[in-house]
Amino acid sequence: MDNAQLIKLAQKAAKNAYAPYSDFKVGAVLLCRNGSVYTGCNVENSSYGASNCAERTAVFKAVSEGERDFVKIAIVSEKGGLTFPCGICRQVLSEFMQNGSIVLYSEKEGIKEFELKELLPHGFKL
Ligand code: THU
Repeated sequence: MDNAQLIKLAQKAAKNAYAPYSDFKVGAVLLCRNGSVYTGCNVENSSYGASNCAERTAVFKAVSEGERDFVKIAIVSEKGGLTFPCGICRQVLSEFMQNGSIVLYSEKEGIKEFELKELLPHGFKL
C-alpha cells in the first residue's frame, strides 16, 4: 500500500473520531511489515486525561491482534496542517517500529514522510 492510499484510509478513519471536547478529529493507519493495516481514531472522554490519540488506538488494535512489527504510520487531522504525533505516541510507536516512518498530509504541504528516529531521537528504553 503506497503513501497516498494510506493517507486516504487515515482520512476515512478520522471520520470515526470521537472528539466532542477538542473538535479535533484525527485518523491514523498503521502498516505492518506483513502488509496488513490497522486504522485508529482519537477517542476523547469527559475526564480529559482518559482520552486516547488516533495513533495509539491503531497501535493497540494491532498489538491486540498479534502484530508487533510496524513499518509506517499515516496520520491526518480534519483541521489544521500536518499533524505530528504527540510525545507519548512517538514513544509508544518506538516500541514496535525500529526503522519506521511517519507519513503526514496537509492540503497546503501535500504528503510528507519523516523517520520515527528523527522525531524521537532518544526514546526511552529499559
Ligand atoms: N490527537 C491525536 O489523536 N493524535 C495526535 O497526534 C495529536 C492529538 C488528539 C488528542 C485529542 O483528542 C485531540 O487530538 C486534541 O489534542
